[in-house]
Amino acid sequence: MARYAAIAGWGKYLPQRVLTNHDLERMVDTSDEWIRTRTGIIERRLVDDGEASSTMAVRAARQALERADLPAFALDLIIVATSTPDYLFPATACLVQDALGAIHAGAFDLEAACSGFLYALTVGTQFVRSGMYENVLVVASETLSRITNWEDRNTCVLFGDGAGAAVLRPTSRRRGLLASTLGAYGAGSDLLIMPAGGSARPASPETVANRQHYIYMKGNEVFRFAVRSMGQATQEVLRQAGLSVEDISLFIPHQANLRIIEALAERLGLPMERIFVNLHRYGNMSAATIPVALCEAAEEGRLKEGDIVVTTAFGAGLTWAAGVIVWGGI
Ligand code: ACO
Repeated sequence: MARYAAIAGWGKYLPQRVLTNHDLERMVDTSDEWIRTRTGIIERRLVDDGEASSTMAVRAARQALERADLPAFALDLIIVATSTPDYLFPATACLVQDALGAIHAGAFDLEAACSGFLYALTVGTQFVRSGMYENVLVVASETLSRITNWEDRNTCVLFGDGAGAAVLRPTSRRRGLLASTLGAYGAGSDLLIMPAGGSARPASPETVANRQHYIYMKGNEVFRFAVRSMGQATQEVLRQAGLSVEDISLFIPHQANLRIIEALAERLGLPMERIFVNLHRYGNMSAATIPVALCEAAEEGRLKEGDIVVTTAFGAGLTWAAGVIVWGGI
């Protein structure tokens, strides 16, 4: 009998603190008007002292487990997608495992920047579909505010913090991730990078003085790459699933910039009514954007049993990914 991996539970956590474009006007040489028209972002959420990627991941995961009606001790595996782990080691997934009391679960982090959730969903789905595991938790959590240079107007207006989670469980019904594609173009690694703090350039007084522990980005080149890679990846997963653009009930693209989403919509011939957008409230939360959007779409009643959800992302690496999900539980 066919075995699929349904998204049996979904959850999100957004920190309380709101940073508006007007707040940013007081921090760098920018304007609400510039940020709105060039990005579509109006405000974003930021963590407070004491919060980190692990604490947000735990909040999102608890909500997803509750919706799946699954106790944490039943989890077999936890995958945390993040570019902003609490520590280089131990893995953030281990901190999440401990806080949840998921005593039977293996745990590891997966790093594919903004494409991280779709990479992790693909990996988690394979474990369930192969029969190796029953219950897998996939969480994406990002504390980008901690690696943002708040004096650099080119980047600081773009990002926000948050977390989203999904619980995967086996079903014989045709549900969950049915097709996916993952891609990478390492030759573009310098277009989007945090230059120091790893083994190539460990932290030193010099790296701190040179502000190398922050996000660096060549925005224009990333923009072009984003539209091209998400467009091609979407067409690829539709082809794999034997579907066309008309079959898409809801399209959830990575939430980085409204202009990127509009260009992608035009390229695919998809009307904006069928595209989920929440970046005006949260900015770009990297890996967390897709699961937070999935969760909000479900909460807003925009996802019904059997709906075809197509989702795609791009990010540092450079990486990209896309997936076709059939919505509904086990
Ligand atoms: N306020 C006012 N002016 C600004 C700001 C700002 N916040 N930021 C940049 N500018 C200025 C620039 O200095 C430039 O001025 P100049 O012409 O005098 O040099 C001017 O605005 C235009 O800059 P562009 O880079 O051409 O602006 P563009 O329209 O391309 O928008 C943006 C820039 C928003 C960054 C866009 O390129 C973009 O969204 N790129 C993709 C970024 C992205 O999605 N990154 C993903 C990261 S995901 C991850 O993995 C972490």
